[in-house]
Amino acid sequence: MLISSATFIASSPSLKLCPATDLPEFAFIGRSNVGKSSLINMITGIKALAKVSGTPGKTRLINHFLINGSWFLVDLPGFGFARTSKEESRKIESMIEGYLLRRDNLRLTFLLIDSRHNPQRIDLEFMAWLSRNRIPFVILFTKADKIPKARHTANPTTYRKALLETLNIDPVFILTSAEKKTGKEEILECIEEVVKGEE
Ligand code: GTP
Ligand code: MG
Repeated sequence: MLISSATFIASSPSLKLCPATDLPEFAFIGRSNVGKSSLINMITGIKALAKVSGTPGKTRLINHFLINGSWFLVDLPGFGFARTSKEESRKIESMIEGYLLRRDNLRLTFLLIDSRHNPQRIDLEFMAWLSRNRIPFVILFTKADKIPKARHTANPTTYRKALLETLNIDPVFILTSAEKKTGKEEILECIEEVVKGEE
């Protein structure tokens, strides 16, 4: 699928204030600094569409981008950022939860995981929560350029085993790098499958 246009539509502080629309949407979620905004820029081919920063906690609102005039990419704030105040993290968590549980046009969630790390409790808990709430998700391993090629398959294998054993789920995994533009086609294929099915 080709992306011919990508337009920033809105930054919303809560589900209630998100743009009213029936168009299908696809959200990017994951820990702070994992590379959500960078991946949205990579996929759309627009460098500064979503705001990126080396400091965790950059994205604080729910950001909607309209793609090809027919579906949305949504950049969410990261979770698990230790240096935010308790009150601020709770606010962000309930914003994310409200969005994921009640956004009717949300079709698929991309959960981003840093390829360099072994399964972390916070990510596993989040997957358990998604799975309990029947929120469909695909796992994107990020920053693949930072690990040696030989290790590219190790992490998905470890994850798959952990997820089958602990949660009895077997999600789709895609290896990505915003830097090297890895994984773009596979992500767009996942989206296209859903968008086509609705036409
Ligand atoms: P929050 O909005 O704070 O939750 O972060 P985020 O998940 O949106 O991460 P963001 O895209 O802002 O990227 C965080 C940092 O990681 C930035 O310094 C990026 O340049 C870097 N980064 C993101 N993707 C990649 C990648 O594929 N490779 C490398 N080497 N660095 C990356
Ligand atoms: Mg961000």
